[in-house]
Amino acid sequence: MSVAEDLRAHGIVVPTGKYQGYAKNRRPNPDPELTLTGPGTPCGEYLRRYWQPVCMASEILDDRPLRLRIMSEDLVAFRDKSGRYGLLAANCSHRNTSLEFGIVEEDGIRCCYHGWRYDIDGTILEAPGEPEGTKITERVKHGAYPVFEYKGLVFAYMGPADEQPEFPVYDIQEQPNDAMVPYSITYPCNWLQVMENTVDPIHTVFLHTRITEVQFSNSWGAMPVVKWYTPDNHIVTTSTYRWGDHVWLRAQDVCLPNHARIGAFLYEADEPRYFWRSALTKWTVPRDDTECMILSWRHYGPDIDPENLGIPDDVGKEKVDFIGQTMFRDYRERQIEPGDYEAQVSQGPTNVHAAENLGTTDIGVATLRKRLREQVRGLADGTREPARPSRYGDLYYGYVQDTVFPIPPRSTDEKEDEELRSQISDVAMEIVLEADSLPTTDQRTARIKERFAKLHEDPRFST
Ligand code: FES
Ligand SMILES: [Fe+2]
Repeated sequence: MSVAEDLRAHGIVVPTGKYQGYAKNRRPNPDPELTLTGPGTPCGEYLRRYWQPVCMASEILDDRPLRLRIMSEDLVAFRDKSGRYGLLAANCSHRNTSLEFGIVEEDGIRCCYHGWRYDIDGTILEAPGEPEGTKITERVKHGAYPVFEYKGLVFAYMGPADEQPEFPVYDIQEQPNDAMVPYSITYPCNWLQVMENTVDPIHTVFLHTRITEVQFSNSWGAMPVVKWYTPDNHIVTTSTYRWGDHVWLRAQDVCLPNHARIGAFLYEADEPRYFWRSALTKWTVPRDDTECMILSWRHYGPDIDPENLGIPDDVGKEKVDFIGQTMFRDYRERQIEPGDYEAQVSQGPTNVHAAENLGTTDIGVATLRKRLREQVRGLADGTREPARPSRYGDLYYGYVQDTVFPIPPRSTDEKEDEELRSQISDVAMEIVLEADSLPTTDQRTARIKERFAKLHEDPRFST
C-alpha cells in the first residue's frame, strides 16, 4: 500500500470540515471588560467598591512589612508596634524606594532610604532629612487604604474614600461551633476563570468523580438537576442529586462580585442532614490581570464536619486539605489526577470567552458574566450602584446549604425523577427565602431545619 493509500485508509486525507487546526489557529482576544482590573479599568473600579481580603493576618509578621500586589497595585501591609494594621502604596513618596524594606515603628512605618515615616492613613509624620519647619510633610499625600483583620483575614477597601460601604458580616461567618481556618492559594491566571468554577457545578460530576478517582465522595458522580436563583446580589446554584432513596440538595452561594460559599463536600448523601452551611468561604482576588489568589476560610466543627473528615493542620499558605487545589504536586500526578487547579489555570493566562462553546450546563457561567457586565457597565456609565446584600435580620443572610432529604423516587422514570428534584429545589429555595423574614439567624435556621425535616411528608414528594 502506498503512503497516500495508507493515509486515505486511516481517514487522514479527509473531506472539507475536518482537520480544522489551521482554520482555527488564530485565537481571539480575552474580554477586557470583565478581566482587566487595574486602576481606572471598568471592572477594576467595580471590584474596588467592595471590601476585599488582601492577605492572611498570619502573613504579616510583627516587625516586617509584607509586599502585596492587588488589582495591579503594588502595596505593603504591616502592623505597627502599637498593633494597628496599615496598607500603603509600596513606593515611598520621596524617591520611590519600596516600603517593603521599611522599618515598622511604634506609630507607622519608616522608609529605609531617607527615613520618611508614614502613619497608617498615609500621613507623612516625619521627613527627617528636611529642614525644621518643612511643609513637605503637609504637601505630600501618600496612598493608603483602610484595612482591618477579621477572623484571620485582612480586609481592605480600595475604592473612592467617600464611597466606602459597610463591611457585610454574613450569618455563615458567625456560626456557633464553627472553627474557621484561613488559607490562601495563588493561581497564575486571571481572576474570573477561578471565580466561575463555583457556578459550574457539572464539572464536579466529571472532574472530581467520573473522569478521575473519586476525589470527594461517590455521590458527586450522579448527574444533578441544576438550577439558578438570583436573590439581590447572589447567584445561588442548586444541584439536586438522586442517591438511592435520598435526594441531595447542594446550594452554592456566589455573592457579587467575587465572594463564594461552598457546602460540605466530603460526605456521602446516604443519610438525612438538614441545612448544613458553609464548608468553605472564599474571595477570588486579582493580583494583576494574569495572577489571582483565593483568600478563604475552611470551616470545621460538629455542624459542618461531624466525622472530622477535614484536616485543619493541612490548611494555610498555599495549602488546603483536599486534592487538586495547588500547583504543588508532581506534574505527572497532576496529569493523571487533575483537579480544580489544573482545570482552571490551564484555560490560559486569561480564558478566552470567544473561543468557548457554552452549552446548556453553562447557564451559571453565562449568568455570572451577564450580571458582572451589567454591574461593571452600570457603574461606569453612572446608571447603577454596585449591588449590595439585603440585611434581613441580625446579620446578612446567605444561601449556601447542604441537605439530604429521605425522598425516594416516585417511579423508575428518570425524567420524572428529574422533575421531582427540580420541584424539590424550588420548594427548598422558597422555604429558605421565606425564612429570610425572621429577625435572627437562630430563628431562621430553626425554621428552615424544621420545614426541611418534614418535607418528605409533603404529599408532593411522598410516595
Ligand atoms: S525614598 Fe523613602 S525616604 Fe527617600
Ligand atoms: Fe471543583
